[in-house]
Amino acid sequence: NHPLRLGIAGLGTVGVGVVKIIRKHAQLLEQRTGRKIVISAVSARTRDKDRGVSLSGYDWEDDPVALAKRDDVDVFVEVMGGSDGPAKAATEAAIAAGKDVVTANKAMLALHGQTLAETAEEKGTVIRFEAAVAGGIPAVKALTEGLAGNEITRVMGVMNGTCNYILTRMEATGQGYNALFDEADKLGYLEADPNLDVGGIDAGHKLALLASIAFGTKVSFDNVVLEGIQRISLDDITRAADMGFRIKLLGVAQMTARGLEQRMTPCLVPTLSPLGQLEGGTNMVVLEGDSIEQIVLRGPGAGEGPTASAVMSDITDIARGIRVSTFGQPAKTLTNAPPSRSATP
Ligand code: HSE
Repeated sequence: NHPLRLGIAGLGTVGVGVVKIIRKHAQLLEQRTGRKIVISAVSARTRDKDRGVSLSGYDWEDDPVALAKRDDVDVFVEVMGGSDGPAKAATEAAIAAGKDVVTANKAMLALHGQTLAETAEEKGTVIRFEAAVAGGIPAVKALTEGLAGNEITRVMGVMNGTCNYILTRMEATGQGYNALFDEADKLGYLEADPNLDVGGIDAGHKLALLASIAFGTKVSFDNVVLEGIQRISLDDITRAADMGFRIKLLGVAQMTARGLEQRMTPCLVPTLSPLGQLEGGTNMVVLEGDSIEQIVLRGPGAGEGPTASAVMSDITDIARGIRVSTFGQPAKTLTNAPPSRSATP
């Protein structure tokens, strides 16, 4: 079997994590897939920077589009981030050049995934994105493979670790939202645009992707009813606790008679439920199907190791010849579902 050759665009937290796993586990990966997985070339904004990992043996490209088109790249690994700009241009170039794409870019996929997937289908290439939904939790794989025999009835999740951190710290310390936002900022948890986190947008992107996989619909971020955590007060938290509930930024997607309903809003969840037990920066994905009833997956939704672990699961699938696209079909989407502040997990 010939080696699977990667081009990695982006050497931030996730890209470096992927390089580390490939260097550390070369043998294990070959045992598991029957092929060597090698890096042909890498690309990032700055070349001379200590990233804590050796890049020796890999060619360097300044331009991710050039990287995407290289003859010695089979799989383009897009871990640059940003919904538009270089990430999208390079992904389009990779697909046009007939490469498979593995990406962690939830924003790009939530906004342009459908078009990218359709182009990929025409070209006979695939786009895989396990890392884009709930970081290290294999939520995409659980839906597409583990639960393939189920009609999915509902998917739910806490999929933004930063919001869950802020909310659980408000409960634990009695400090208000602003103080804990500043704390999250100091710890480096916030996205470059913090509104992506606290406005629920990042989590909404992830829900839109998960819902499209679960229900076989087009990715439709515009139809996610969104509300962030900015207006949650200590008073809300105390009153919820008095009634046996906690407040979580919870995503819920389900198919109704009127079409697909998707919400990412602060919700009351019973303190004694799995979602109600979720602490700190962790993520939880709850999947419900007609045969399985319910499964609950909990784990790290961000960070170098967990996100790189998810990227590797897509790469190893492609190495094994599993090149199935996970995007759905035309959507029957709800455009104006009323926001709800409670759920019954
Ligand atoms: N800002 C995201 C979070 C990072 O806090 O969960 C992972 O997507």
